[in-house]
Amino acid sequence: MTAPESRLLERHLETLAGQRLLLINPPADAFPARLQAEGIHVRIFHQDLNAARPLKAQGLPVEYGPWLEKPEAVERVLLWQMKARAWHELLLDMLQAVLPEGTPLWLVGEKRSGIQSSLKPLKQRLGQAEVVDKARHCTLIASRLRHKAATLEDHLQTRHTEVAGETLRWQSLPGVFAHGRLDAGSRFLLEHLPGPVQGQVLDYGAGVGLLSLYLRQRFQPEALTLLEPDALALACARRNLPAARCIAGTGLRDAPAGLDWIISNPPFHQRQTQSVDVALALIEQAPAHLCPGGRLLLVANRFLPYHAPLSTAFSQVDIVAENPQYRVYLAQ
Ligand SMILES: C[S@@+](CC[C@H](N)C(=O)[O-])C[C@H]1O[C@@H](n2cnc3c(N)ncnc32)[C@H](O)[C@@H]1O
Repeated sequence: MTAPESRLLERHLETLAGQRLLLINPPADAFPARLQAEGIHVRIFHQDLNAARPLKAQGLPVEYGPWLEKPEAVERVLLWQMKARAWHELLLDMLQAVLPEGTPLWLVGEKRSGIQSSLKPLKQRLGQAEVVDKARHCTLIASRLRHKAATLEDHLQTRHTEVAGETLRWQSLPGVFAHGRLDAGSRFLLEHLPGPVQGQVLDYGAGVGLLSLYLRQRFQPEALTLLEPDALALACARRNLPAARCIAGTGLRDAPAGLDWIISNPPFHQRQTQSVDVALALIEQAPAHLCPGGRLLLVANRFLPYHAPLSTAFSQVDIVAENPQYRVYLAQ
């Protein structure tokens, strides 16, 4: 499916003809390949491996990471508006820090991303910004970069959180899941652990690593592996748990096997759309990754349909705890 922002940009192929473009966090649709097919030189920087992988699979050059490390000469940057304001600011800081002064910038976004309220702050930040086009509930804004000295570290925030008898000290970055706070579902899980979590442990969809941080402080498991596709979250996880193994991944195929525990608060959104696909794949594939007697511990919103697939994949499924919003499942 072609994203509405891509449809808007398709109206401007003539302006883009022959240019060297850098696309920042585009949706994983056919638009970047369409640009390439038109003879436009395209490079992509992405912070989400869920999108970076399918774009790479289309033969596109994709750099994945928390911060653009290898900027080549570009004639225009296309930036997709992120809903979280602080994340949007981080991306602008990154572009201003690593690309030459005066590089043309196009900012595109759907109405629900908050693009319309970006015009004024962008003018203030860069000295100029104007609306170029509006269609399909999307807006395209043009500006030019001004240099600014900035690093990823400027955006790190340090937090202290009390949970289930432990004080966690951790770092967060804009754009990550539950930036700067412990999610209520994750807290509920930590408050209702069914016993010591030890041995070979995988934290699936680890975010900045709060579940793992708790487990390390409480139980010191033999080996902790964190798997996460969001490069900003992974950058935090690496800081929060320097001794653990942190993997950029989108599925269990990226994780080690022979696990004693898989613990997860799995995602149920992909780019603002609700989706249980990742959680269902995790449930289906988990038994093959666990050693005999191994366990999958999940927390999820009560309304999410996980009980039946858990019962299909595992011989025993218990609801360890539930409240009006969340349920903790233990499958073995
Ligand atoms: C509900 S959050 C939980 C984060 C963290 N464990 C916590 O408790 O704060 C789900 C996490 O799954 C990540 N995620 C998204 N797609 C994924 C995928 N395909 N495989 C694994 N994790 C994914 C998200 O980026 C997010 O960090």
